[in-house]
Amino acid sequence: MPGSPSAAAAPSPSPASTRPVRVPDLRALKERGERLVMLTAYDGVTARIFDEQGVDLLLVGDSIGDNMLGHRNTIPVTVDEMVVATRSVARATKRALVVADLPFGSYEASPAQAHATSVRLLKEGGANAVKLEGGRHVTEQVRLLTRSGIPVVGHLGLTPQAENILGGKRVQGRGEDAADALLADAVALADAGAVALVLEMVPAPLAARVTARLAIPTIGIGAGAGCDGQVLVWLDMAGMADWAPRFSRRFGEVGVALAEATRAYGAAVRNGSFPGPEHTYGE
Ligand code: KIV
Repeated sequence: MPGSPSAAAAPSPSPASTRPVRVPDLRALKERGERLVMLTAYDGVTARIFDEQGVDLLLVGDSIGDNMLGHRNTIPVTVDEMVVATRSVARATKRALVVADLPFGSYEASPAQAHATSVRLLKEGGANAVKLEGGRHVTEQVRLLTRSGIPVVGHLGLTPQAENILGGKRVQGRGEDAADALLADAVALADAGAVALVLEMVPAPLAARVTARLAIPTIGIGAGAGCDGQVLVWLDMAGMADWAPRFSRRFGEVGVALAEATRAYGAAVRNGSFPGPEHTYGE
C-alpha cells in the first residue's frame, strides 16, 4: 500500500531514480559499483512493464528475428522492422535508455552506411543509442556515429550476425591469443567512443579482465558475474521460450500463465459463462 511502513521500506524498483537514464549515467553507475539491468524488448506492451520495474536499458535486439518474427537467426532482420519495433518500445518507455540494434548488412560496409541506418533508428524509431557487433573493423563506424551525437554500444564475444563464420553459437575468447584479441577489440571500441560494451558467451575471467580494463560499463550475457551489468532476452528471462541457453535463468513462467489464461477464456466462451451480464450493455 502506498504510504504504508512496509512500502516505505521496500527497495525502489528503480535503483537510481525515476528520472530518465542518460548516457553519462552509465559510467557514473559503473564508478559507483551499481549494476546495470538490461533486457530486450520488441514492443510497447512489454517495454512499459520492464520500464516500470526499473530496467535501466531496453535493447531492441535483432534477436527479434528468432524470438518474434519466426526466423532461424538474426540475419534476415531488416532496418524497417527494427524501426517499427524501436518506435513501439520508445513510445512506451519513460525511464530506460532505449538501445536499438543495427541489423546485419546495415552498417558493416562503411561509416556512412552505419550513419544512415542509425539516423533512421534515432529519428524514426526514437532510440537513444544504437548497438553494433564487432571490434577493430568497426571502430571507424563508432567514431563517426559518436562525432554525430549517436551513442554506440559495442558487442563482442559471440556476435550472432557472424554465426556463419563462427560456426554456431560457441563461447568466444578461449585461449590466450583469442582473449588478447578480444581485449584489444574492447579497448579499441572504448577508445573510438563506445559508451558500453555487451560481452556475449565469453569466459568469466576474460569478461572480468575486460571490465577492469575499461572505464565504460560491460554488460554480460553468458559472461559471468564480473561484468558491470547483465542482459537477457526477455522471453528466456520470463519463461516464454521452450528452450533457453545455459547462461539464462527462468525468473517466471509467463508462458504457462498465458496458456492457462487462454484455456480459461476458451472454456468460458464455449460453456457460455463469458460474456456475463456484467460484460453486457443494455438498451
Ligand atoms: O539482439 C539481442 O538480443 C542481443 C543480446 C543477445 C545482447 O544482441
